Amino acid sequence: MFELTDRVALVTGAGRNAGAGIARLLARQGARVAVNDLLPERAAATAAAIESAGGVACAAAFDVTDADAVRAGAASVERALGPVDVLVNNAGVPVGMTVARFRDLDPGEWRRYVDLNLYGVLHCTRAVIDGMCARGHGRVITIASVAGQLGLGLGVSLYGAAKGGAIAFMRHLALEVARHGVTANTLALGMLENAGDAAVVAELAKTIPVGRCGTPEDVGAAVVFLASDEAGWITGQTLGVNGGSHTS
Ligand SMILES: NC(=O)c1ccc[n+]([C@@H]2O[C@H](COP(=O)([O-])OP(=O)(O)OC[C@H]3O[C@@H](n4cnc5c(N)ncnc54)[C@H](O)[C@@H]3O)[C@@H](O)[C@H]2O)c1
Repeated sequence: MFELTDRVALVTGAGRNAGAGIARLLARQGARVAVNDLLPERAAATAAAIESAGGVACAAAFDVTDADAVRAGAASVERALGPVDVLVNNAGVPVGMTVARFRDLDPGEWRRYVDLNLYGVLHCTRAVIDGMCARGHGRVITIASVAGQLGLGLGVSLYGAAKGGAIAFMRHLALEVARHGVTANTLALGMLENAGDAAVVAELAKTIPVGRCGTPEDVGAAVVFLASDEAGWITGQTLGVNGGSHTS
């Protein structure tokens, strides 16, 4: 079950943490994985780790907020590995993300959250969706956050607004492409182990019903499931991957 041999996956923001875990687990199931990141050295490191573990990967550094760069990047992935069967829109934390109340945020700061968490998803999806529909098979999986589902009062309003937009987009996309064998689903993540330093993570873990923060492997396993042939009847869903911190 959950075999991905002969599938090509593109994972954005996969140079570290959750994205790297997603890329590793997809490769472990047999997928050939294109590792995207804004930073070429991070993309190369994740791709090299996959290859040294016996998988097939290539680095694909580009900025998901730049439509031209995404088109060129997706074309180079296709030349290197073949057409993309599985797109994982994971890039989502803007460089230097600040935690601040909406009233304290300069309006000049707003756009970068929307550019990355919503436009990044749109650009990458646009670059691969026609091919998926033409071939009659595809998986689009977007990594969102509980911040896109709930009000949190933690100073992440713009991040949450953009994640909420991505969640809504994926629901519409799912219905538009359902008859072409393409599914579109979203993971709404809770706090991961990289959410802060060790002391912060230990405090956060106490608030999570299962008693720990999430790992890259927790996220990767859920992506593998949604990417698999076995998940072909699941589309338009937002799956909470959060240790029980938000039930539905
Ligand atoms: N870490 C958490 O606690 C948490 C909680 C909820 C949701 N999430 C979501 O999970 C996903 C992964 O989070 P993470 O903590 O692993 O992030 P991270 O910041 O550790 O890694 C993200 C990677 O994306 C890359 N990146 C940033 N901007 C990019 C761009 N424009 N184009 C391409 N790559 C870009 C970065 O260089 C980085 O390597 C994100 O969508 C995030 O919003 C994370």
